[in-house]
Amino acid sequence: MKLLILGSGGREHALAWKTAQSRLVQKLYCAPGSDAITALAECIPLDCCDGTEVAGFCAEKGVDLVIIGPETPLASGVSDVLRRSGVRVFGPGQAAARLESSKAFAKKFLARHRIPTARGRTCATLEEAAAALEAMKPPLVIKADGLAAGKGVRICADREEAEDTVEDFMRLKTLQAAGETVVIEECLSGPELSALALTDGKTCRLLPHSRDHKRLLDGDKGPNTGGMGAFAPVETGPDLESAIRGIFESVLAGLREDGLDYRGLLYAGLMLTAQGPKVLEFNCRFGDPETQALLPLLDCDLAALCLACAEGRLGTAELKFRPGACVCVTLASENYPRAPMTGRPILGLEEFPAGACGLGLCPRGSPAGAGRTDFPTAGADLMLFHAGTARPGGKWTTAGGRVLGVTAWGPDAAAARRRAYEGVSRISFDGMHYRRDIAGELLAIR
Ligand code: AMP
Ligand code: GLY
Repeated sequence: MKLLILGSGGREHALAWKTAQSRLVQKLYCAPGSDAITALAECIPLDCCDGTEVAGFCAEKGVDLVIIGPETPLASGVSDVLRRSGVRVFGPGQAAARLESSKAFAKKFLARHRIPTARGRTCATLEEAAAALEAMKPPLVIKADGLAAGKGVRICADREEAEDTVEDFMRLKTLQAAGETVVIEECLSGPELSALALTDGKTCRLLPHSRDHKRLLDGDKGPNTGGMGAFAPVETGPDLESAIRGIFESVLAGLREDGLDYRGLLYAGLMLTAQGPKVLEFNCRFGDPETQALLPLLDCDLAALCLACAEGRLGTAELKFRPGACVCVTLASENYPRAPMTGRPILGLEEFPAGACGLGLCPRGSPAGAGRTDFPTAGADLMLFHAGTARPGGKWTTAGGRVLGVTAWGPDAAAARRRAYEGVSRISFDGMHYRRDIAGELLAIR
């Protein structure tokens, strides 16, 4: 099979790393990819959001399957164009992807299908927003309707902050069109969980639950970021598990009822409240950095799974996980998430086995670790996923806010965590910072 992955970040590096091990994959392309991904795939400078351009490339090269990494191509309808041209796609079409690209749409969907979520109102005008603020008691959560690269949600402790946010999003249009409509919600509390499932629209199969660490600083302080680290699995008890399964079944039934075709990854961001799990948001793609902590746990062929989703036969596909746990620590640039400094040399990458990418840990054609809990070489349970790096003139430098995801597997979470931070200690660049408390808590929720 010829496989094309769209995207260029840590998630896509992890997707490329995992699918490169597939026995089915004879040729791997990534667009646009990155200097790190070139070690695994032929990188092609395509505009990922231009369906016609991507479809043209697929026709020219005979690509059999496209896996869409980020949300923007999904929101632009790239899946639809590709499917119309006969290419199999892992990723929902534009209409279903509105679950992520429009918070107002998601809110309506949740209400229509009676899926637990925070109470909220959608406001399309300043007058509606003013009336909602009048009627609802702070703290409140204000969400820009459209995609805002992690900047569209503000937790407002009091009325003044809520009014300022409405002013920013709706009158000043600081997020352009994304903030013209807002959703104003009650503020829920409880631990958060990322629940990811593969689906072909008929069946959905959950991956191990994971946890992202969105805030910049230890102890969940500081501003929200794209994600400062993740771990998996988060163990749950039977009641919680059945509530989460119930949510996914309802979403799937709702999609069918609404005539929405969904083949890809469905991610529910959940808050585990005293009244049970409630949906905070949907993503229509693999989470980042969650995917970096999840894929090393997958003990089967990811390309085969994605193909099964695209072809509507997920029910019979093999899905297996390794025992143990995985921890991913994000190394970020100075000034991330505001205005990250880039172009700084990265030291220590040569210490990683098989070069910078953690490649060669699992020989091509063999599943990651193949169920082993011991590894033949030191460092084989340590992977380095590149999120924002470049290699001009052969030297690795920082090229984004989130630079690297140092990811370790261990027989248990404590071992994985120790190993990941050991990996972190070998890498340095000017201004590098990271959280020291990834996987420090919440390993099990019952
Ligand atoms: P979202 O993009 O909707 O997941 O929001 C980003 C983050 O905002 C979530 O991970 C939560 O930490 C927080 N959040 C979103 N909605 C709520 C809510 N209704 N109550 C409390 N926190 C929320
Ligand atoms: N880690 C959250 C996301 O991928 O949106």
